[in-house]
Amino acid sequence: MKYYPAFLDLSSRPVLLVGGGEPAARKLRLLLKAGARVTAVAPHVTGEIGNLAVAGRITLHRRCFRPTDLEGQGLVIGATGLAAVDAEVSRAAEAAGLSVNIVDRPELSTFVTPAIVDRDPVVIGISTGGAAPVLARRIRAAIEAILPSRLGRLASFAETFRSAVAALVPDGQSRRAFWDVFFDGPIARSVLSGDERAARETMLSLVNRRGAKEVPEGSVAIVGAGPGDPDLLTLRALTALQSADVVVYDRLIGPEILDRARRDAERIYVGKAEGNHAASQDEINALLLEHAREGKRVVRLKGGDPFIFGRGGEEVEFLRRHGVAVELVPGITAATAAAASAGIPLTHRGLAQAVTLVTGHGAEGEPDVDWAALASANHTVALYMGLSNAGRVAERLIGNGRAPGTPVAVVSRASLPNQRIEIGRLGELGSLVRDRAVEGPALIVIGEVVALGQVDTLVETLPLRAAAG
Ligand SMILES: C[S@@+](CC[C@H](N)C(=O)[O-])C[C@H]1O[C@@H](n2cnc3c(N)ncnc32)[C@H](O)[C@@H]1O
Repeated sequence: MKYYPAFLDLSSRPVLLVGGGEPAARKLRLLLKAGARVTAVAPHVTGEIGNLAVAGRITLHRRCFRPTDLEGQGLVIGATGLAAVDAEVSRAAEAAGLSVNIVDRPELSTFVTPAIVDRDPVVIGISTGGAAPVLARRIRAAIEAILPSRLGRLASFAETFRSAVAALVPDGQSRRAFWDVFFDGPIARSVLSGDERAARETMLSLVNRRGAKEVPEGSVAIVGAGPGDPDLLTLRALTALQSADVVVYDRLIGPEILDRARRDAERIYVGKAEGNHAASQDEINALLLEHAREGKRVVRLKGGDPFIFGRGGEEVEFLRRHGVAVELVPGITAATAAAASAGIPLTHRGLAQAVTLVTGHGAEGEPDVDWAALASANHTVALYMGLSNAGRVAERLIGNGRAPGTPVAVVSRASLPNQRIEIGRLGELGSLVRDRAVEGPALIVIGEVVALGQVDTLVETLPLRAAAG
């Protein structure tokens, strides 16, 4: 290892910054965030540095560097970008026994500053030892993408309970176990989702119960898994999956998604296929309750969004009635996923002022919907579970005044490698689904906006752009 990693406590400590341009300003922002007492030396400075001096936040000497500037300093940063000045600052600092960093000149520095991910008070430093700064930036971007934005809030929240927990759980090993449960559980997730008031209340009751030696309760997260591509899982869904003890999942959840769950999590399939109910809703509710009452963290994983034709509402209502903590994690629903796959904007100025998500399948076959309301032009219909009734849905819409020439797109297995997109007109929707042997799951988009789709076959199949205008 070329550099020894360390975080410096600069709070109220003197730091000399030589340079007044943008690189110096970047260093200055971080130094001030860390509470350093900064003296800057430069004949010319950016507006930002000048303003900080006027506001009394730094001491500024508008002149060239002199070795006497080092007197009384604890650390030195050189950011002039001028080779001669940088070398002089480096030499003088080393002679004075001070640690020095010269921006982009590791050979003149006794320490280097890492690329950072800042979720204050959580700070992650990344260094490639100067070998590949661009790689360090890429690593930082990857870490930025996976860490929740409120991670810092979570650390601060935990800090406020540190001494209370230490008093209640004096044994170190048990205390670590307590915090593990905390960081994996619904309280931490509430903080991360911005609901700190609820988190604080639950934490207080958890700490009090723990004081009374009660067993911690389990929880259920109802999580939308999106349309199938694991890259379309939300970060929060991933976090929930990675902390789950049990994952209860549906038919539309593929192995690529399940792979993202904690390796030792129990996986329970409760998939329902049309006419072949693997588990009834009552059985699923009972299963969720049973595992939560055993103190487990349960993830109820559903395709798309749990609250869009997903029966998520029934499960939430049941669990809350039984006093189980429930967290809700939305997912990308099939309509938006299919629209993105086909490049179809579901609403578009002048073409669609409304979009309705509707099921093509009712309890008795045909759904009980207001066809007249869906039949008006410039209104997009996103039809879920519509394959078996596609012809009848088209008849109802046309019977209520929708033009038979309205373009339609049938997107099957949206976002998955075997995705297929068929384009046609409303008048021929039934035969299109039948003749082209479209397989589910499929989402049918009906409306003028389909003409805007970015599907290669679209232009060949139909002169839609003209029809839509
Ligand atoms: C029971 S609903 C569940 C919907 C889900 N909760 C959502 O928000 O997407 C099942 C229907 O969703 C649609 N669907 C789900 N995943 C899909 C996908 N990857 N591609 C196209 N349609 C999909 C199909 O219409 C399927 O019949």
